[in-house]
Amino acid sequence: MVHFVIVGVLVIASTLGLGLLLTNAPILPLMASEQAVTVDWLFNIHWWLIAFFFSLITVFILYSVFVFRRKPGERGDGKFVADNHRLEAVWTIIPIGIVLSLAVIGASTLADVERRDPSALSVDVYASQWVWRFEYTVEVPTEAGESVLTAVASDRLILPLGQQVVLRMRSTDVIHSFWVPEFRVKQDILPGGSEFVRELRITPTEAGTYQVMCAELCGQLHYAMVAEVQVVSAAEFDAWLAENAGDCNLTDEQCGQRWAATYGCTACHSLTGQSGVGPTWLGLYNHEVTLTDGSVVIADLDYLHRSIVDPNAQVVAGFQPGVMPQDFAERLTEEQIQQIIAFIVSLQQ
Ligand code: CUA
Repeated sequence: MVHFVIVGVLVIASTLGLGLLLTNAPILPLMASEQAVTVDWLFNIHWWLIAFFFSLITVFILYSVFVFRRKPGERGDGKFVADNHRLEAVWTIIPIGIVLSLAVIGASTLADVERRDPSALSVDVYASQWVWRFEYTVEVPTEAGESVLTAVASDRLILPLGQQVVLRMRSTDVIHSFWVPEFRVKQDILPGGSEFVRELRITPTEAGTYQVMCAELCGQLHYAMVAEVQVVSAAEFDAWLAENAGDCNLTDEQCGQRWAATYGCTACHSLTGQSGVGPTWLGLYNHEVTLTDGSVVIADLDYLHRSIVDPNAQVVAGFQPGVMPQDFAERLTEEQIQQIIAFIVSLQQ
């Protein structure tokens, strides 16, 4: 009996020490959403369970090795225990109880993480190899005193602090996955059009800049499929939306620069002369380009247009075919393509 008391005290002490160590260790990134509170709470429950079972097993083994070791002069084998039904029942019922409890706790925390706020802000998320695009729907007042709905596209995810946002996510090609570690939640994104829209709810609680990364292997540049996430105050968010709402009323070059950012072009094509995933745009126009088949062409307006709508037709030497999205002819209007070309033309060295 005294052995059980000693082992019990050691297990409790070890569980407390290990549990406090694990739950206070700086392992997780910043907690930046309401959902993260729930997720981390569940995570800590698991830490405590891990601490308890690790302690239980380790203390039993170490105690037995030291206290019940064969002492000098002792002979024979240890006592062999068979068919202890009470013991078997205990080690069957206790794990079943733990597993069922975890199922209940898991279901209730999942319900909490997916809790719907009817006033949530809706953002459409489009994942493509290998860019993110975010679309906001905004009501814009017209001169006639009415209002029309218009879309604001962005290559950055801007979120207002303290308001629940529902991301309505779809993929234009393969399976991707939306993951911001500071928000803790993660969701796979499926191709297949509007029937396969996946939702994810986030209520940001810390202003700051984070990074969304793709958490599903989606091809050659999966590792580079990242985008900036900015959590700003509600006033800053409204100002940003208002600034970007409506048609592009700027010059063709400036509009082209905007589309190049919102459609992710400049993630791969540098404006500085540096070679990236794709050729740089600086000084590209009207200069000679060597293609993979060894031929040399001039990057004139026709070349630029073809490179956008049919990127595999003329791949530049040193770059891979199939890396650039093939669907810009559908995703961009002809006017937008012309404006992007105007922007590239303006980038003279
Ligand atoms: Cu998209 Cu990995």
